[in-house]
Amino acid sequence: MLVTSKKLFEIALNKRFAIPATNFVDQNTLRAYISVAENKRFPLIISFAQAHHEVMCLEEAALLGKFYAEKAKVPIVLHLDHGQEIEFVKQAVDLGFTSVMIDASKDTLEDNIAKTKEVIAYARQKGVVVEAEIGHVGSGENYEDLEQTESLLTTVNDAKEFYEKTLVDSLAISIGTAHGNYTGTPKINFERLHEISQIVPIPLVLHGGSSSGDSNLRRCALSNIVKINVFTDLMNAAVRDLKGELNYFDIQHQLRAGMEECLVHYYSVFNTQTIRI
Ligand code: 13P
Repeated sequence: MLVTSKKLFEIALNKRFAIPATNFVDQNTLRAYISVAENKRFPLIISFAQAHHEVMCLEEAALLGKFYAEKAKVPIVLHLDHGQEIEFVKQAVDLGFTSVMIDASKDTLEDNIAKTKEVIAYARQKGVVVEAEIGHVGSGENYEDLEQTESLLTTVNDAKEFYEKTLVDSLAISIGTAHGNYTGTPKINFERLHEISQIVPIPLVLHGGSSSGDSNLRRCALSNIVKINVFTDLMNAAVRDLKGELNYFDIQHQLRAGMEECLVHYYSVFNTQTIRI
C-alpha cells in the first residue's frame, strides 16, 4: 500500500531500525525491490532521483511508482530523492509522491531554509512529507576519503537552526558517507550523529549507504537513523553475475536477482522490521 513515511519513521525510531530507500530507474528495479519487500513483509521507500529524469521522466516515475506501491501488500513510500528545483519538487507533490526531498544543501543556510520552507508550505497542504539536507553528502568515483568529495559534515548548530526555522519532517545529515563507490570503508562520525540526535527531535536519514560498512550502517540504524539510501550497491549487484550468451529476458531476470540479493542483505543489516498499518 502507498503511504507517507510519517508513521513508519516513528515506529522505526522507537524500535531502533532503519528502512532502506532504494532508487528506481525503471520497471525492473521497482519489481525487484518490491518483490523483496513483500517476501520479507517489510516496509520500503522507493526513491526516484531528479538526476535520473533523463532515463525516466517524473510522470513515468509517478505512474509506475504508484502502480507498484498501491498493489503491494506492505507499506511503500513513493519518495522524490534530491529534488533540486522547487518547481520539480512541487510537480512531484502534484503527481502523487507521498514524500519529497528538497536538496538545497549546496546553497547558503539561509537559502536552504527559505527553499525548504516554500516546499513545506506546498507539500503539507497535500499531506506530503518533506526531507531536507543540511551539511552536504558529496559524490565521487572510487574515492578513499571525504576530502576527495565535496562532502561537508553537518554541524550541530546548523542542524538545530535549520530544524527550528523550518520544522521539516526529516533531515539528511552528513556524518562521513558519500554517494558512489569507495575504496576502503568510510569513517562515520557517530559522536556527531549522537549530538545532533540529542538536539534535533525529528527522524534523521543517511545518504550514500552503499559500501559504507555493514557494522557502520547497523550502528546508524540502531542509533537515530531511520532511513538509509542505497543505490550504487544495488546497481553493482545487478550486473555482477551477468555472463555468457543471455537473451533479453534472461538479462532482466539476472539483473533482478542481483538487486534482490543485495536488498535482502541490507534489510538484515538495517535491522528492518515488519510494520502493520
Ligand atoms: P549510494 O549510491 O552511495 O548508495 O547513495 C544513494 C543515495 O544516497 C541516494 O540519495
